[in-house]
Amino acid sequence: MNNNNFSKITFTINNRRMVKTISSSMLLIDLIRDEIGLKGTKPGCLEGECGACTVLIDGNPVNSCLYLAVNIDGKEVTTVEGLSQGDSLDPVQQALINHGGIQCGFCTPGMVMIIKSFQRECDEKAVKPDREQIKKAIEGNLCRCTGYTKIIEAVESLFP
Ligand code: FES
Ligand code: FES
Repeated sequence: MNNNNFSKITFTINNRRMVKTISSSMLLIDLIRDEIGLKGTKPGCLEGECGACTVLIDGNPVNSCLYLAVNIDGKEVTTVEGLSQGDSLDPVQQALINHGGIQCGFCTPGMVMIIKSFQRECDEKAVKPDREQIKKAIEGNLCRCTGYTKIIEAVESLFP
C-alpha cells in the first residue's frame, strides 16, 4: 500500500517478521530506534560518514542514517541485537572484547556489523584477509578511542 506519504511494509528484523505503516520519508535508523525500540544502532554523524549506524540488509552493510525505511520492504534486516544467541555473544563481539577493541563503545555496534559482513565475505571466498584488507574493510567506520590497532587484531583473530 502506498498513499503518497505513507507506505505499508513487511520485513524481517533479527528473525522477527513485522508489518509497519510508515512515512515514506522515514529513515531506517529512525524506524529501528524509535519505532521498533532497538537502541543498539547508534546515531553518529547522520551524514553517512561515521558508520555508527551500520546495519545489515540481506547480509549487506548499509548506513541506516541514509537509507529510506520503505526500501526494506520484503527484506531481512539484522542489527547488533540480532547477533548474540541468548547469553552467548557473537564471535565478532567476543573477539573485540578479548582484544580490547572497545573503549567508549559508541562505534562498536556499527563496527561489529561491518566486521560481521566482512567475515562472511571472506568465509564465502575462503580467504584469510591480511592487515591491509582488514583496514580497508573497516575504513568507513570511525573510532575515536582505540586507534584501530586492537580492532584490527580482533578481526585477525577471527581468521586463525
Ligand atoms: Fe550514519 Fe554516521 S550516523 S554514517
Ligand atoms: Fe569509542 Fe570506538 S570505542 S569511538
